Amino acid sequence: MPQRPNSYAFCGGAFGDEGKGRVVDTYVHKAVQKGRVIVYRDNGGANAGHTVAFGNKKIALHQLLSGVFHQKAVTILGKGMVIHPKDLITELDDVAAAVGGKIPAQVIIDAEATACLDTHRAFENILKKWQDGSKGSTGRGIAPAYADIIYRHPLQMRDLVDWDQKKIESHYEMYEAIIKGLGENLAELEVARLGGSPEKVGTKAEFIKLLKAQMSKIKKYVEDPSALLKESWADTKTTFVFEKAQAIGLDVRWGLYPDVTASDCTLDGIYGSTRGIIDPMDIAVRAGVIKATYMSSVGARKLPTQMEMALAHRIREDANEYGATTKRPRDIAYLDLEALKTYARVGRLTHLVLTHLDISYIDQKIKVGTGYQIKGKSTQYQPDQTFLNQVEPIYTELAPWDGQKVQSVTQIAKLPAEAQQFITFIEKEFALPILFITTGPKRGEEILL
Ligand code: IMP
Repeated sequence: MPQRPNSYAFCGGAFGDEGKGRVVDTYVHKAVQKGRVIVYRDNGGANAGHTVAFGNKKIALHQLLSGVFHQKAVTILGKGMVIHPKDLITELDDVAAAVGGKIPAQVIIDAEATACLDTHRAFENILKKWQDGSKGSTGRGIAPAYADIIYRHPLQMRDLVDWDQKKIESHYEMYEAIIKGLGENLAELEVARLGGSPEKVGTKAEFIKLLKAQMSKIKKYVEDPSALLKESWADTKTTFVFEKAQAIGLDVRWGLYPDVTASDCTLDGIYGSTRGIIDPMDIAVRAGVIKATYMSSVGARKLPTQMEMALAHRIREDANEYGATTKRPRDIAYLDLEALKTYARVGRLTHLVLTHLDISYIDQKIKVGTGYQIKGKSTQYQPDQTFLNQVEPIYTELAPWDGQKVQSVTQIAKLPAEAQQFITFIEKEFALPILFITTGPKRGEEILL
């Protein structure tokens, strides 16, 4: 198929929290004016998080999609996702309360999506004590839930809808036994809870009773979306917006291993999640979202282009760089083009989106990492922390602009000359056109190209 018209995919082009949610929301908002829109997510779960504004209310979305506030949107939580029913109910309730009634969009959860439960969260918390790999994780049980797939014993959403008592009991019993072997009691362990204090996993009977009650609330959303996907993809008047979670720098193969998430954060995950119905290479616009002048990272990874403390602190406060899911302060780093260009290449991106163009200070040159060397010899990015610990970045400096002056600008020609030069520099480095730029925190503070 030639590239399918009216199709867009947005993925994180750095280490997450690039502002994808707002970008997706803008494109969904534009598309619903024309007709029907399908918003699709294929990876991650409650580890993701971004805030959207509805009227004067701010709602944090973690598992639900950015299109959830639009009546003409069908939002699909795909097979490749891991779903935590209890947190999802909290989110659905929050959205319903914000709109004062029914959830505006249609919500579909793929029956083959994997359940991510408190058992996984408890096990991940224990793993943190035994080895370093999980130390940076959000504690949402994501890696153990994906590991269940590899071990060939996932609980899928259809198992919970059909209520396969034996499978559910043996799921609890297996995690209880593993955790007992590691010296802890599953029932007594506390796990993170969206919008509330940590809660105990509970005994098998308590866990099963709660899960049953949760499923009675969400089973109406669970179905096989294949037929809908197939016929809507063929009908090119329907707009598709693919909303990826996390970012290629957190991808299990391309990210900075071992502090990576467990899912496929490139667009490739869409192929498997849609059971081969949608080939990601047919998506017309495949955009990677990055912050224009810096990078942020939350976790245990150590980025080669770490920023000098005082400037990092200034940016963290000005751009509110604190985790949406865990509230952790984010590390701030200089742009690392060696890593970012690798992510754009392996992500097979066609466009870039730049966010936070207002983060620039007139008294501070913009420092950008343009390559790596080890003992004076140039070298390339490798997805490996041990290797990257040895590299020394090579930097270049670009002229800054007054960030406050770009906030109301909606046309590229009206940007300060230095900001325009910076954008040209980025386009040339990546050899990719820029699709969209955000110039300030508020909706409308943006340039659509
Ligand atoms: P996990 O996804 O909870 O297993 O976490 C693995 C790594 O990815 C940790 O360093 C997390 O901080 C990071 N991570 C996961 N999701 C996000 C996200 O949405 N934004 C930024 N970092 C994330």
